[in-house]
Parts: sequence; structure tokens; C-alpha cells
Amino acid sequence: MRTQVAIIGAGPSGLLLGQLLHKAGIDNIILERQTGEHVLGRVRAGVLEQVCIDLLDEAGVGERMHKEGLVHSGIEMLFDGQRHRVDMNKLTGGKNVMVYGQTEVTHDLMNARQAEGLPTVYEAHNVKVHDFDTTRPRVTYEKNGQTHPIECDFIAGCDGFHGVCRASAPRSAISEYEKVYPFGWLGILADTPPVCEELIYVNSPRGFALCSQRSKTRSRYYLQVPLTDKVEEWTDEAFWQELRLRLDDEAREHLVTGPSFEKSIAPLRSFVTEPMRFGRMFLAGDACHIVPPTGAKGLNLAATDVKYLSSAMIEFYQEKSEAGIDTYSQRCLGRVWRAERFSWWFTSLMHRFPDDGAIVAKFQHAELDYLMHSESGQRMIAENYVGLPLDFGS
Ligand code: APR
Ligand code: PHB
Repeated sequence: MRTQVAIIGAGPSGLLLGQLLHKAGIDNIILERQTGEHVLGRVRAGVLEQVCIDLLDEAGVGERMHKEGLVHSGIEMLFDGQRHRVDMNKLTGGKNVMVYGQTEVTHDLMNARQAEGLPTVYEAHNVKVHDFDTTRPRVTYEKNGQTHPIECDFIAGCDGFHGVCRASAPRSAISEYEKVYPFGWLGILADTPPVCEELIYVNSPRGFALCSQRSKTRSRYYLQVPLTDKVEEWTDEAFWQELRLRLDDEAREHLVTGPSFEKSIAPLRSFVTEPMRFGRMFLAGDACHIVPPTGAKGLNLAATDVKYLSSAMIEFYQEKSEAGIDTYSQRCLGRVWRAERFSWWFTSLMHRFPDDGAIVAKFQHAELDYLMHSESGQRMIAENYVGLPLDFGS
């Protein structure tokens, strides 16, 4: 079999890339290790930046997002028992974010791919990438006991943190940067109305909490927990009780509790691989960078990698120019490091670290207090939160 671009991974990165390439007349195949249901079963974040919204529109999959997604123009910050609103819209000259779950984004992309009859091989086992240091790379995979070869012009490694593509790049050509945080996020989904119209990010003496949502009737809440905690040990009752203790009086009063239908603990990590290109193989999304979820940047970064990558490939085929593919890694990494910096900073500001004494909590409060009383401080948060422009700094 032959295709122009072999895409490994049918998460949001791979699916969005496939769609953007298809719109430009570039054929592609997606190989995914799991079943489609498994991919849709993963619960992840749900805040889309404007550039991500625009990309989903460009890919032709924005209709349901505009109908069901919730536009948010601000966030709330709670510390020292007081809530402060960051008016993102006002501070960024009219920018907002959209609350729309990653699961829904993935669903819309899968449906569009299926409707257009584009090839996706689910349960593709033992995917291997070959000869990407030449102009004739190949991919092989196993399915139903047979090995299938695919010849292609490019390989797109959209296969997440545990994928095969980054692992296949020569060790000597790679630099990796990593920080693992000494706590996790315990998250639940419940069909209860959100406690507040906007998201509340909480710095409390008992640790971080986040009040998020998926719709007017579905809430998503998180608690900072020690990494040694086991999800089975957290009853719904215990979760609600702990959340209450981290909120302010008003939120405590408005909180509607109920049975959760999803509960999990996620570790927090900052991770970057440099470069993001190895000959004719490109990495995008979680395959080459992870952010802690505090800044809601994971999906948005994946989407902008894919934008740069699809533009570079379109330029290659339509204009016979390699300029875009040559600068892909550098362009992405500029944006990646800015988002990594923001996510690390926001995480550090909002969480209790086990080795920090009482003085660090005081530093955090003083910094939050300063930021909330400084327009430029608030603007720094707002412009990073809504997402820096694609051409920022260039
Ligand atoms: N062969 C085929 N597919 C693979 C392989 C492999 N060896 N390894 C991993 N995959 C698949 C996974 O099963 C998964 O469906 O690649 C896909 C990668 O998807 P994601 O992990 O969702 O990564 P990405 O598409 O880059 O999405 C980034 O997801 O984790 C969040 O915060 C992150 O929101 C961001 C988004
Ligand atoms: C979520 O709704 O899952 C969510 C929102 C904001 C974040 C992280 C997660 O910063």
C-alpha cells in the first residue's frame, strides 16, 4: 500500500492532521493501536483556545462545538478565602475560550473522517517506522496475524507520550527535558450543574482544586492529592467533602453534589523533546510534549503543532518547497516552551508542594495578591490562558 502521509495515532492530533491534509488533497492513512471506543473512553481536559476553535472550523468539524460549547470570557481565582475574576476578554482585546470536552472534539473528528471514507486502521499492532532518514520512509503494522507494509513520503508521529515514533528516533539526536510533580489530580465527572458559571482555580491551605464543567448540567471537578492515594479509596462523599473544604463560603453554598460517573487520578508532568523532526518523520502533540493540566494547554498545543505541520506539508506538495518542513521543529518549539513555562508557573503558584514550608504559601498569596491588583499581572495570565497568537515572537 502507498500513501502520502502515514499518521500514527488516532487521538486529536492524528485525526486533526488527517482532516486538514485531506482538505488540501493530500492522502493519508491513520494507524491506531486501540479501538475507536477505547480512544473515546479517555476523559481529558476541555478548554479550547481561539486558535484551536479556528482550526476545528478550518477542518470542517466545528458545527457541534459552536452549538454545544460554552464561551467563557473570564476565570475566577480563589485564594485566602476570596475570589477574584480575571476578565480575559477585556484584557486581551476581545478573546475568549470555549469549554468543550476533548472527547467531543475527538468524536467530531472521527465522525468526519468516517463520513468522508478516509482510511483508519484500528487495532493496528506492532507499528514500526522505517527509513525515515531517507526520502522513502515506510511503516509496517500487524493486523489479523499478517504484517502490512505502507510506503509513504512522510510519517507523522501523533502517537502520544507512550508512542513508538519518539522511541524510534536515534537516542543521540534527541534531547529530553522532564519534571514530574510530587502530586496528582483526582478528577470526577458528575451530572450536576456547575457550581459557578466560570471555572474556579483554587489555592487553598488543603491544596489545589479546580471547578470546571462540560455543560450547564455536567460538572468536572479536580482535587490535588498525594501520588500515594488510590482512586478506589476516594468515595464520592469523601470527594465532595474535601472539595467543600477547599472552596469559599459562596461556592460551598452553591455546590450541588451527586453520584460521579468517572473518577481517576492523573499524574502531573512537564516534558519536552527536542527536536520534533527526524528526517521524514515529524512528532506532534503528546508524542513530544506534555504539560501539567493547570493551564489547559495540552490539546491546544497539539492542535497548533498540527497546524504548523499541515501547512508545511501543503507547502511541500503545492509549492515544491521544503522551507516549512525545515522550520517545523523550531516554529513549534517556540510556542511549546512558552506554554510549558506558563503551565509550570501556574502549577507552582496554585499547588501545595510537600517540601515547601509555610513561607512558600505566604509567597504564593503575596504573588496572587499582587497579580490580582495589577492590570499587567492579570493581562499576563489572560493572554497566556486564551492562547498566544500563532505568529507570536516571529
Ligand atoms: N501504534 C499506534 N497507535 C499508537 C501507538 C502505537 N505504537 N502508541 C500510541 N498510539 C495511539 C494511542 O492509542 C492514542 O490513541 O496514539 C494516540 C495518541 O493520542 P493522545 O495520547 O490523545 O495524544 P494526542 O493526539 O497528541 O493528543 C494530545 O491529549 O493527552 C491529551 O493533554 C493532551 O489534550 C492533549 C491531547
Ligand atoms: C477540564 O475541564 O477538564 C479542565 C479545565 C481546565 C484545566 C484543566 C482541566 O486547566
